[in-house]
Amino acid sequence: MKKAKTIIKLLWCFFSDFCFYVKNSLVISSGRKEKKEAVIMLTMHALEKGLSFSQKKEDWGKEKSKSLVFMVNNYLKKYGQCETTVVAINILKAYLEDSFSTKDLQVRQQIEELLEKNRDSINKVYGGAKEVEMPQLHTSFDDILYFYQKRCSVRKFSETPISQGEIENALKVAITTPSACNRQSSRLHVYSEKEIINRLIQNQLGDQGWCNNTQVLFVITSHQSYFGDTYERYQALIDGGMFAMNFLMGLHAQNIASCFKMFVREPVREKEFKKIGNIDSAEIPVVLILAGHYSKTKEFSPVSHRLNQSFYFKEK
Ligand SMILES: Cc1cc2nc3c(=O)[nH]c(=O)nc-3n(C[C@H](O)[C@H](O)[C@H](O)COP(=O)(O)O)c2cc1C
Repeated sequence: MKKAKTIIKLLWCFFSDFCFYVKNSLVISSGRKEKKEAVIMLTMHALEKGLSFSQKKEDWGKEKSKSLVFMVNNYLKKYGQCETTVVAINILKAYLEDSFSTKDLQVRQQIEELLEKNRDSINKVYGGAKEVEMPQLHTSFDDILYFYQKRCSVRKFSETPISQGEIENALKVAITTPSACNRQSSRLHVYSEKEIINRLIQNQLGDQGWCNNTQVLFVITSHQSYFGDTYERYQALIDGGMFAMNFLMGLHAQNIASCFKMFVREPVREKEFKKIGNIDSAEIPVVLILAGHYSKTKEFSPVSHRLNQSFYFKEK
């Protein structure tokens, strides 16, 4: 009986996820600003990738650049300039300068007109291809491994608050995270008000003996409107998870202790969570992070032994 109930509940969850995906993803192109931005990002990334190839076909990127100009113009008309349009304009400039880019005069003229109208955006950022260099790391592998091995989940924190600068530093690490087609759908929500933290934790099955001693609660979300095809229906969660891990390592790099808290994902609960946390309805909560400076008192964490992992060498 219990199993049957779980299966029915599961069906309801999948159906709810399905409705959420149809409504908020790129499957339906509504007027949402994020969707417009997402399609610009996808297209400019395709052009940037093209620019990085050492062998190019004559006239490559004609349709992509044409549609990018169209989308950027529409976006600028409706919302004005944003960082994404500035990047798109600089990528189009690099495309125009590429010797294999389209020779179609009409398309080239459309790009030129866009560049001319937005001269203030040019060279604000660098777009196109960059030379890859082997990094000169000043740290040994053992030191880096030690850094990773020394992180563990800590569930007790001191009362010293995490400063804005420390959050900004951790975010600097998080934004180095790669994302599918560089769509950067992850978002960081920071809560420091005790009452809101308590309500969010309560929504997520409560304190469980450790959550309420946090000074700050981070919620990592991923915006669904950056994804749309059938094959990328879970991509928001993947990109958000990777971003979350790097954010946590950014805290660790500053000697800030932390622990993830799994997001308990049920349709009604999730809706309420977003309401309490003032999170856009199209965002998917990925994971919670509780964090703080290390406590001065002696604390313990589970060993969480790692199993030996071998890799599976696949030959033929
Ligand atoms: C996505 C995710 C969700 C987690 N959720 C919880 C949680 O809800 N409660 C908790 O106490 N620990 C949680 N953890 C922490 C894990 O228990 C912990 O990472 C694991 O035991 C490995 O230990 P370590 O982090 O100390 O290396 C979570 C970890 C991850 C990655």
